[in-house]
Amino acid sequence: MKTKLPQGLFSRRTIKLGSENAFRVGPQIREIETQGHKVIKCNLGEPDFPLAKHIADEVKRQIDLDQTHYCDPQGIAPLREAIAKAMGPRRGLQITPDRVVVFPGGKPPIGLAQQTYCNPGDEVIYPSPGFPIYESFTAYLGLKPVPLHLKEERDFSFDGKDLAPLITDRTKLIILNFPSNPTGGVATREQLEDIASVIKSKAPPHTRVFSDEIYENIIFDGAQHHSIASVPGMAERTLIVSGASKSYAWTGGRIGWVAFPTAEEAQVFKNLNINYFSCIPAYNQYGAAMAIDSPLSGPTMATMCEAFRQRRDVMVEGLNAIPGITCRKPGGAFYLFPNVSGACEALGAIEAHAALPPRTRAKSSPATLFQMFLLWRHHVATMDRRSFGKVGSEGQHYLRLSIATAMDELKLGLERIRTAAADRDGFQSFIREGKHLTA
Ligand SMILES: Cc1ncc(COP(=O)(O)O)c(C=O)c1O
Repeated sequence: MKTKLPQGLFSRRTIKLGSENAFRVGPQIREIETQGHKVIKCNLGEPDFPLAKHIADEVKRQIDLDQTHYCDPQGIAPLREAIAKAMGPRRGLQITPDRVVVFPGGKPPIGLAQQTYCNPGDEVIYPSPGFPIYESFTAYLGLKPVPLHLKEERDFSFDGKDLAPLITDRTKLIILNFPSNPTGGVATREQLEDIASVIKSKAPPHTRVFSDEIYENIIFDGAQHHSIASVPGMAERTLIVSGASKSYAWTGGRIGWVAFPTAEEAQVFKNLNINYFSCIPAYNQYGAAMAIDSPLSGPTMATMCEAFRQRRDVMVEGLNAIPGITCRKPGGAFYLFPNVSGACEALGAIEAHAALPPRTRAKSSPATLFQMFLLWRHHVATMDRRSFGKVGSEGQHYLRLSIATAMDELKLGLERIRTAAADRDGFQSFIREGKHLTA
């Protein structure tokens, strides 16, 4: 039973905060599993590998050493030193530990940066499709969301020409994310130089670039990670964001970090940490320092990346063999972002969506209906396009599939998707039933 809450209980901004649907699918999966079905989980945004032993051992050792108390709110010195030493040379930069702040994951700096750099009405440019938290905070803080729509035919990438018309004198943040969630798109050095030259010539001096590089170590086919901060003149205005969640398969460790353009900005964010979190568990920070410093981490990451690459190749080929689905080969991260327009048409999802009652229709899309049909009738969990930025996403029919699931499961998932994409009768009966039509 739902409790009736007093009117006006929540602030106006609270009801505007978006969410990350990946965390909302879990209860639905559990419900289906309790009905006795096996669900193939292609919804997960976390590597399906255990935390490496050398890192886990260090965390345990630090707990035994009683590193279980308050610590430096900016992040313990050994971790900030390790981050500065690893991040700087890789990008051809000199980064000092006083510019580094440690956060409970790579996610908190997204909202904290918007709240720190922007006043209501200021503009935030972010990739769409993109990590949902970029857009989620704009409404909460009264900012103007300015999605930079990534085109499939350009491999979900963009260049300076695409960015230029979006920049105004109210642009306070430009968010970049390479390798990208959800598309797996990566950037070349030349592309970043082109984007940087537009930012340098068009963006006001108060514009900061938020370069989310959390997938920096998950890159395929011998490609290298490039950061916009490496382009001359960009380090002075770029926040370089990364963390332990993806590189070290350690989403539960809640360790992320930012290298700020100045030590003064780092102090402001340290104070935000004091206000929100006090500090981040020291034993995990020591574990992260071990992860960054240890020569054992490189081979562990290489093994994980090779598994993702093999799965990517099998899944891209398999998806492209399904009528109504086409899929680009991503260069990094562990997601596929297939175009499901043909399947949506064949199933009748576009007409079904158009015929929904307005309130349900507004919270859904043809791809959402396909996503929910896949989940509830064919037991494959995926994410729809709307989960990665709603503003201007109408008419875009995509799903995100995570490949952070064992190969056998993925192959089973592929077969189920093939069956579902041809199951028009099943889809129509799902729509008639009218349950679970929104994520
Ligand atoms: C692009 C991007 N940025 C940030 C994060 C947040 O990572 P964390 O778990 O370290 O908070 C994620 C997680 O999925 C992500 O995909």
